[in-house]
Amino acid sequence: MAWKCIIPSCYKTESHMVESTKKVVSKQTSLQRLSLSDVNDPSSPMLVDDLSNSLIGPKLQVFSLAELKDITNNFSWSNLLGEGGFGPVYKGFFHDKFRPGLEAQPVAVKLLDLDGLQGHREWLAEIIFLGQLRHPNLVKLIGYCCEEEHRLLVYDYMARGSLENQLFRTGYSASMPWSTRMKIAYGAAKGLAFLHEADNPVIYRDFKTSNILLDADYTPKLSDFGLAKDGPEGEDTHVSTTRIIGTQGYAAPEYIMTGHLTTKSDVYGYGVVLLELLTGKRSIDRNRPNREQSLVAWARPFLKDPQKLYRVMDPKLEGQFSAKGAQRATALAYKCLSRRPNCRPTMTDVTNILEPLLELDDWCFVPFVYIAPPPDRDENVSKDYSSINEKEIESEEEKDANEENTGRRGGRGRGWRHRIKSTMSFVTYSDMSLYKKFGDNLEASNNCVD
Ligand SMILES: Nc1ncnc2c1ncn2[C@@H]1O[C@H](COP(=O)(O)OP(=O)(O)O)[C@@H](O)[C@H]1O
Ligand SMILES: [Mg+2]
Repeated sequence: MAWKCIIPSCYKTESHMVESTKKVVSKQTSLQRLSLSDVNDPSSPMLVDDLSNSLIGPKLQVFSLAELKDITNNFSWSNLLGEGGFGPVYKGFFHDKFRPGLEAQPVAVKLLDLDGLQGHREWLAEIIFLGQLRHPNLVKLIGYCCEEEHRLLVYDYMARGSLENQLFRTGYSASMPWSTRMKIAYGAAKGLAFLHEADNPVIYRDFKTSNILLDADYTPKLSDFGLAKDGPEGEDTHVSTTRIIGTQGYAAPEYIMTGHLTTKSDVYGYGVVLLELLTGKRSIDRNRPNREQSLVAWARPFLKDPQKLYRVMDPKLEGQFSAKGAQRATALAYKCLSRRPNCRPTMTDVTNILEPLLELDDWCFVPFVYIAPPPDRDENVSKDYSSINEKEIESEEEKDANEENTGRRGGRGRGWRHRIKSTMSFVTYSDMSLYKKFGDNLEASNNCVD
């Protein structure tokens, strides 16, 4: 395998190699997780050959391109499982004599799109993080391939694909039941909490439904660590980034404004996914009426008020959910989506709140009746014309929708709002996602009032 492709030629001096080997050895003896900066840092380049040996945890397999072509039917279209910003993912199969020590099993092979925006760095990040972190709610990385410019990753195959495909699939298939949604919300929270609580915390950075995979019994597994980052070190409160990378609709507002990443940025993304699970709606949908295009902006006013719960819950659940569970889960989503990072719970808090909800069985079985809005109105919010103060909802909705959709808040004289001039350079990319350029003044709130 051509390791040299990983190391910039200018660093290939003998002394550097000696230094790098020493580093690897010391890492191994202390059993400290190798960090991305250890391998990416130009001042201490590292031979990729050493990489598979120096990662802690079960040894990763190194595959040849020919082997992976062979098991995926030459990357056949019929084996395609999905595609994101890194490239296409194909189903493959290890037969029983494929390689000693490898059991016969289906696998997923992710192939770098050489014309795409991602590359070696994202490939390496997946190896560094998924190769060393093992947890029941993280997908298992089996191995990788690096030949010339080709970069591939091989994972356990997840029979039910991504949460995105399961939750938003159209057609006549049954909608995902409440208990499955809660199982997924809880498991995904455990995976994220594990990353945040690690000795060297990891910021996942791209939490969204297409990056949560489901195995045969709907156990969720976080995958796609291409954008993950090591958390702040020492006294630092955040990791500074110069490029805002993530996915619109999931990225935390303060991260978009300042480029400052913390574990609380992941909590915001988690809140968006929880909201998608509760509402059955995508975080951004340009096909929805204007004020509903951003799910967070539309739903936020309803989340803090149990009386308005019926406005957000997925009609496809047909009222079959725990009333108490839904109330607590929407209140939790509201907290996770707080504009103030410090007011968001930690992911461990989230798991503690969600765990008891798995047992609740106070199903409400309230039939949800959808009444189509009059054709001349630019909205399709379901109405039941009961005791709602329509005016109040409208004004709250409008306020939030305007704030989220324009990226501006305020101008209404609230003392706790401060203007922040964004100074970031925004070169952005990710999984088929949209990125916004924020050059304008943006505002952030300064306390926990949303
Ligand atoms: N291990 C897997 N098992 C089954 N499907 C997978 C697996 N890994 C990825 N996929 C499918 O491929 C899609 C893209 O994978 P992902 O790792 O997110 O790629 P990218 O880094 O390009 O975003 C997922 O949303 C999912 O549909
Ligand atoms: Mg992805």
